[in-house]
Amino acid sequence: MKHIYIENAAEHVGEEVSLHGWVHNKRSSGKIQFLIVRDGTGYIQGVVAKNDVSPEVFATADSLTHESSIEVNGKVRAESRAPSGFELDVTDLRVHQVVPKEQPFPITPKEHGIEFLMDQRHLWIRSARQRAILKIRHEIIKAVRDFFDDDGFTLCDTPVLTPAACEGTTTLFEVKYFEDKAYLTQSGQLYNEATAAALGKVYCFGPTFRAEKSKTRRHLTEFWMVEPEVAFATVDDTMDLAERMITFVVQRVLERRPEELKSVERDLSKLERIQTPFPRISYDEAVQILQKHGSEIQWGGDFGGGDETIISEQFDKPVMVHRYPAAIKAFYMEPDPTRPEVALCVDVLAPEGYGEIIGGGQRVANYDLLAERIKDHELPREAFEWYLDLRKFGAVPHAGFGMGIERAVTWICGLEHVRETIPFPRMLYRLTP
Ligand code: 4AD
Ligand code: MG
Repeated sequence: MKHIYIENAAEHVGEEVSLHGWVHNKRSSGKIQFLIVRDGTGYIQGVVAKNDVSPEVFATADSLTHESSIEVNGKVRAESRAPSGFELDVTDLRVHQVVPKEQPFPITPKEHGIEFLMDQRHLWIRSARQRAILKIRHEIIKAVRDFFDDDGFTLCDTPVLTPAACEGTTTLFEVKYFEDKAYLTQSGQLYNEATAAALGKVYCFGPTFRAEKSKTRRHLTEFWMVEPEVAFATVDDTMDLAERMITFVVQRVLERRPEELKSVERDLSKLERIQTPFPRISYDEAVQILQKHGSEIQWGGDFGGGDETIISEQFDKPVMVHRYPAAIKAFYMEPDPTRPEVALCVDVLAPEGYGEIIGGGQRVANYDLLAERIKDHELPREAFEWYLDLRKFGAVPHAGFGMGIERAVTWICGLEHVRETIPFPRMLYRLTP
């Protein structure tokens, strides 16, 4: 019997096929049992009619419980009333495992608390909504890769174990193993700067770690970041690149994942608006907007989550906020030559209050200035010698950014919290399952 996936049912109308999957739901009208089967690619209703199958098969169908695993044979029939457009007239049924009635699948259609669901994350991911989110996450990642690959970028993986801080010492995860101090990477950027000088346009895409003490809807301790870096590029170039990438990714998801977006009840009109150019405002202008909306912020202060929400609510596209005070940004930020107190950096804030999804900018190109910055930030000079070398051997203006995939997924799916955007989230109070 030919095994097919439910998503391809349309190509097999009238054929007898075999499906492998799990029982999502079952109801019975005495002589007919209706099994909703899912196989990861979709859902289909299997119709088991007492008159059409052996008594054993009918009894087997009757014994099935939620999430029991089965192989089912049947004929695919077009059915306009079915959500998927097809049904399966079941002829045979084999069981892999029946979930015992005394110990049923813990997640039921009734409402569960979020902590319970997070504890059951290994099972929760089977639900339709969680599946849709993970499908969209995959589409976003694929789109990001396609965007850079087709734009002449080379993927250069950067190390996870590193001897130095990239994004400040307060969120470093220390690893005990090496003789010297070692940490889980906060960002591949510093290494990207080296590979960009070798290959011109590069990106890395991997897990990054922040020992965040913050317990917000935007923070994970382990997240995936895509980071492009371009030699001979300025902060303006990096803004152009960021808006092109975001637009490409959103359009791709709209094109290829309409069903999943519907499943998470996303307002598509909000995503359809995501077209270049994006608004660009300076930090100074952002502070004015915030003060007008009652924020306590003063020039020089960093934006809190609430501030980002206010700013991003003013625009129906991502807004690019550039030139933050150098004092609140990382050590590697190039100062604006006309105004050294601000850095040539940019944060991209997603609309609808979602806030920062991208951080980036132009890097310090001058050797002496970078050496001074490393000292000012009390970073261990030895760990940065190689990084300083990049300013000794053919220094050029260069720029790049990092986009947190989970933040992007949260926004594109229209979710409340970043925790649903990765199969197994790691947060301040969550290391399991
Ligand atoms: O703004 P960040 O810290 O910038 C960097 O790491 C740069 N080195 C990137 C670069 O220029 N190559 O982080 C970049 C992005 C943020 O905008 C956010 O989307 C995400 O990474 N991010 C987090 N996502 C989830 N949880 C956290 N704790 C995050 N911290 C940052
Ligand atoms: Mg940032």
